[in-house]
Amino acid sequence: MSQPTIESILHEERLFEPSAEFSQAARVKSLDEYKQLYEKAKANPEAFWAELAEKELHWFQKWDTVLDWQPPFAKWFVNGKTNISYNCLDRHLTTWRKNKAALIWEGEPGDSRTLTYAQLHREVCQFANALKSLGVQKGDRVGIYMPMIPEAAIAMLACARIGAAHSVVFGGFSAEALRDRLVDAEAKAVITADGGWRKDAIVPLKDQVDKALADNSAPSVQKVLVVKRTGQEVAMQAERDVWWHELQPKMSADCPAEPMDSEDLLFILYTSGSTGKPKGVVHTTAGYNLYTHITTQWIFDLQDTDVYWCTADVGWITGHSYIVYGPLSNGATTLMYEGAPRASNPGCFWDVIEKYGVTVFYTAPTAIRAFIKMGDEHPNSRNLSSLRLLGTVGEPINPEAWMWYHTVIGGERCPIVDTWWQTETGGIMITALPGAIATKPGSATLPFPGILADVVDLDGNTVGNNEGGYLAVRYPWPGMMRTVYGDPDRFRRTYWEHIPPVDGKYIYFAGDGARCDEDGYFWVMGRVDDVINVAGHRLGTMEIESALVSHPAVAEAAVVGKPDEVKGQDIVAFVTLEGSQTPSEALAKELKQHVVSEIGAIARPGEIRFADALPKTRSGKIMRRLLRSLASGEEVSGDTSTLEDRSVLEKLREGS
Ligand code: WTA
Repeated sequence: MSQPTIESILHEERLFEPSAEFSQAARVKSLDEYKQLYEKAKANPEAFWAELAEKELHWFQKWDTVLDWQPPFAKWFVNGKTNISYNCLDRHLTTWRKNKAALIWEGEPGDSRTLTYAQLHREVCQFANALKSLGVQKGDRVGIYMPMIPEAAIAMLACARIGAAHSVVFGGFSAEALRDRLVDAEAKAVITADGGWRKDAIVPLKDQVDKALADNSAPSVQKVLVVKRTGQEVAMQAERDVWWHELQPKMSADCPAEPMDSEDLLFILYTSGSTGKPKGVVHTTAGYNLYTHITTQWIFDLQDTDVYWCTADVGWITGHSYIVYGPLSNGATTLMYEGAPRASNPGCFWDVIEKYGVTVFYTAPTAIRAFIKMGDEHPNSRNLSSLRLLGTVGEPINPEAWMWYHTVIGGERCPIVDTWWQTETGGIMITALPGAIATKPGSATLPFPGILADVVDLDGNTVGNNEGGYLAVRYPWPGMMRTVYGDPDRFRRTYWEHIPPVDGKYIYFAGDGARCDEDGYFWVMGRVDDVINVAGHRLGTMEIESALVSHPAVAEAAVVGKPDEVKGQDIVAFVTLEGSQTPSEALAKELKQHVVSEIGAIARPGEIRFADALPKTRSGKIMRRLLRSLASGEEVSGDTSTLEDRSVLEKLREGS
């Protein structure tokens, strides 16, 4: 039931139209209106985006060129001056929204807090001044390693306000992973908390920061700011560490937003790719602001009465774009939840919806599949009638899970937007506009206006309807990543040369396989590279392999994904050992734990398979295709003639 298969979705003929009532009140009301927008944007993308930029954002100074495209490097709104923190906060203070709830926070265990726009603005200004007082300046980078608490959003907005770029590192990453990211970004300061709540336990975030910085191994970091959250003892280093609650109240609430150049660095967010080292995805100020603003508004159909909840963590792009920047830029009420569904509290999401009257709910297929397993009695015993729109993101959704979401959570009345996008794209690229586009379970439907998405072959030719190919984008868009931090060559190679430019026109290669049906609907099939998607978390197989071979017992490792009912995919590691080592349960356990401490719990292999040797071609390349089949328990099919030693395969089979 996990990943949609070609067969299951080829036979998917159900079509769900939004209700007339929903469409009439929607931001985009009909398929015709969507088509007009799409055609208008396609005919003249620059004019389309310029009109929106003028109407939707505040500018200290207007741009002089909409797009400067030196493939594959784009600059949007050249010479414009704006500030995303101003757009998210200050401009709402002169309207009735001043005392509207900007951020509703539901914490663990049982805490809650609501900040109005005026209050959030004040906190952000004070914290921006706190950063300045510690020597953080425009152009510096700041690491954020925090639980899901309001201070995480405040920290991001405060960095943006003074022109320091943030690099948020998901709180589930290990000290090692954190260090790598801080070093690559040359972060000057780190903002963290003593600890964070994760499934009834405390994650010792500050201890992890201490480990990451031990022995001066991230020498750029001069200051560590610590929020008191869980209250346990932590070691504070006199010159370096500062408590948030001691500094913040001393700070003035007057901190005008710094006019930033459109192309000034807004943030770096690390993500996994095909090679070992995570890439620092670079997003800049104005284009990202505009793109997240308008996608949030149209896709989540924001109305002033909405209570909008995206369940992602701010450590991922979804949290950046659709908890913090997109909703706040629109003056919406955004909800942030510190908890996570777990056996001890299987109804917690539905409690939050009931408690706050959530109207728009955005989550991941993996969560939906976990809820199906937990049983319908949990949502059925809560009042979910406030919901009017649902969304999913992060991985393909199987039609069964889609139907359950539609029926049990949406009461058959809420449209579902299945949103395809990536850390690199900044915002949602392919999705239904809920009042305009009928949905098919398992399809992300149609591209957002201004996005020239296509399914192509490796020469860049559009493939026929229902033929599989590579998901690609044929024209730049404002929210696109600008480069890989410190490695423009890698940016060019990874995304723009995989499919060579056609007639000098560059094509963005997303790394996903897809097909388009006869209605132009996109069906995303999953990654075509060495990236696996475990519970909606993106992991590079090479990253996990490097972690494994850094253990002294391991000679060689090959990691593949296998289908998993709830997580979509699970990690299987094939491992050969150093001569003196013998396979054992205890060693398997130790190796799993080793990966956890190198990367984080999200990368823990579900299974370690010891092998005498790995199947390789004569030129020494590991044949992952075979390992994938073995891991999934499928027959190994296709060409095995290039295999160097056929007995290796036989042995692996016997061992399974
Ligand atoms: C996958 C998350 C199918 C895809 C926003 C992509 C999806 C990767 C969908 C990016 C979807 C995301 N349908 N697949 N609706 N949304 N993906 O960078 O493989 O964490 O390339 O960004 O998630 O993951 P990332």
